[in-house]
Amino acid sequence: MAGKTLYERLGNYNAISAVVDAMMRRMAGDARLSKYFIGHGENSKKRLRQFQVNMICEATGGPCFYTGRDIKTVHKGLGINGEDWQVLISHILSVLETFKVPEAEQTELMSLISNLKSDIVEKT
Ligand code: HEM
Repeated sequence: MAGKTLYERLGNYNAISAVVDAMMRRMAGDARLSKYFIGHGENSKKRLRQFQVNMICEATGGPCFYTGRDIKTVHKGLGINGEDWQVLISHILSVLETFKVPEAEQTELMSLISNLKSDIVEKT
């Protein structure tokens, strides 16, 4: 595994896409998070999904380029709180378990995601 990017160790583009899709399904199925997406049509959700895939692909060393808005700007004013954040983190961890992502890769990915917390969470 030496020298391999996190992107490669996660299983490349298709694996990352599958993880994002599963995460979005869980968000949509959890009222604590789905309330933030009320009024988003199918196309807006697909667009958001694609932004997330590209962002994670790029951040893990893959051949993608994130063309979305910066993360702080896009979440500003949504009023996401610390509990929402914890709910999302638990869903992501369950998804990574379901996909049998090894612990080292889980830790690396979760650390990238955790770095975004202060830009996304506005309330305690
Ligand atoms: C509880 C946590 C989160 C909630 C409730 C949430 C909610 C949302 C909502 C409602 C939007 C659409 C905003 C709009 O179009 O006006 C959005 C956009 C976005 N979010 Fe999140 N988000 C969360 C965490 C995250 C995390 C952890 C990531 C990255 C891994 C992320 C990445 C993005 C991206 C890339 C966009 C789209 C950027 C764009 O349209 O240019 N979000 N989020």
